[in-house]
Amino acid sequence: MAPTASIRLGDKDYPLPVMVGTEGEKAVDVRKLRAETGYICYDQGYGNTGSCESAITYLDGDNGILRHRGIPIEQLAHKSDFVETAYLIIYGELPNAEKRKAFGMLLRQHAAIETQMQRIFEGYPTKAPPMAMLSSIVASLAAHYPDLATNNFEKDLASFELAAAITISKVRTIAAMIYRYQKGLPYVFPKQDLPFCDNFLHMMFTEPYKDYVAEPEVARALNMLLLLHADHEQNCSTATVRTVGSSAANLFTAVSAGICALSGPLHGGANSAVLQMLQSIYDEGDDGTRFIAAAKQGSKAGRLMGFGHAVYRNFDPRARIVGEACEDLLNKLGIKDPLLAIAKKLEEAALKDDYFLSRKLYPNVDFYSGIIMRALGIPVSMFTVIFAIGRTPGWIANWREVAANPKGRIYRPRQIYVGPVKRDYVLMADRP
Ligand code: SDX
Repeated sequence: MAPTASIRLGDKDYPLPVMVGTEGEKAVDVRKLRAETGYICYDQGYGNTGSCESAITYLDGDNGILRHRGIPIEQLAHKSDFVETAYLIIYGELPNAEKRKAFGMLLRQHAAIETQMQRIFEGYPTKAPPMAMLSSIVASLAAHYPDLATNNFEKDLASFELAAAITISKVRTIAAMIYRYQKGLPYVFPKQDLPFCDNFLHMMFTEPYKDYVAEPEVARALNMLLLLHADHEQNCSTATVRTVGSSAANLFTAVSAGICALSGPLHGGANSAVLQMLQSIYDEGDDGTRFIAAAKQGSKAGRLMGFGHAVYRNFDPRARIVGEACEDLLNKLGIKDPLLAIAKKLEEAALKDDYFLSRKLYPNVDFYSGIIMRALGIPVSMFTVIFAIGRTPGWIANWREVAANPKGRIYRPRQIYVGPVKRDYVLMADRP
């Protein structure tokens, strides 16, 4: 028997439909509540509210489960790669050999940034926040590819395959160019014969007279890192992309808005905050004890970065995978990073501490990812940019669900007004 719900307001009961997802998630459908009762629901930050039906990613925060189009993240992390997982997330199925080849070709064909777009970089101070540069330069794709960004769902869906490939490929190239621009180095152009991650590392680290050729384990580590960030249900930046997309804004514009949302330290900025936290613990000669004591004071500023999650009340499955990959990579590269030892001590101490256990605070994807990126030679300032490259397929897939939904509506939440009640205008200032 399908579950039912009703809400009693005063002395009247109002029956409400119940929705049940394919994984058994249940929701009370309140779409008619306001029309029938005049009441709205209140859920600050929407932590208990479903904004959409989506078939892309399933996340069970209590049991630490994450699946993309039904496939567990653990299997994808160990058997797939970033480009194949991006295809799965966007198109719903793993690509066969022919589709994988065609997708890879599109990414390579559209890897370069045209000369006119390159001029945008010169308008930024070299010390500009990389995410500020990334969001605005990605937004400019709508100006450079207006036929793919008409702000008309039907037209933009008709050219979606090309727009999606351009977005994934050029976000990666723009990221590498931002790095080069900020270091005062000449741009390195993509190579048609290099795979996605190898090309990114080539564009980042090639020196004037020495081509950078990524070691297989380095390219594999970056591949896994991007794959693990590819999508994550209705997180802050993905919800932003859906909100912007719901106004019929084009894909490039919506992804640019997602980059802006991701830049915040409570979201995508956490990976660099973790590294800064570990470095300060190391510089102070602390073993993490003082830091953990401070983190338990509950102030947002003193939090243990890379710990806790808005959804996971168990281990973030990605954190386990990144933690293992981190140790493996450092061993393979023969790197002894003292920050890894501090991170492991912090994790061990926190997971024995009732403050964290009682609040179900476990390491999240950001806790170890920064140490891997540091081992790859990526500077802390670029950590969130790497997260953005990884998350691009998820943003694209979610924009497509919004654009393709014939019953979709513009996102327009309501509010509870708590400002001044009606009052008259009184001239306060002596006007000339
Ligand atoms: C990402 O949503 C996603 O899916 C995001 C993401 C993705 O892939 O897109 O997974 C990526 O954003 C991971 C999270 C990265 N952020 C951090 O690591 C920053 C540190 N963590 C937090 O600030 C916090 O845990 C959040 C923002 C992630 C979650 O915040 P919530 O769910 O709103 O938790 P809360 O603020 O309600 O905290 C509940 C309690 C509070 O204590 P009490 O008021 O009950 O006494 O837990 C405490 C908080 O003070 N708390 C922490 C803590 N996180 C929460 N205390 C110390 N250290 C922390 N990290």
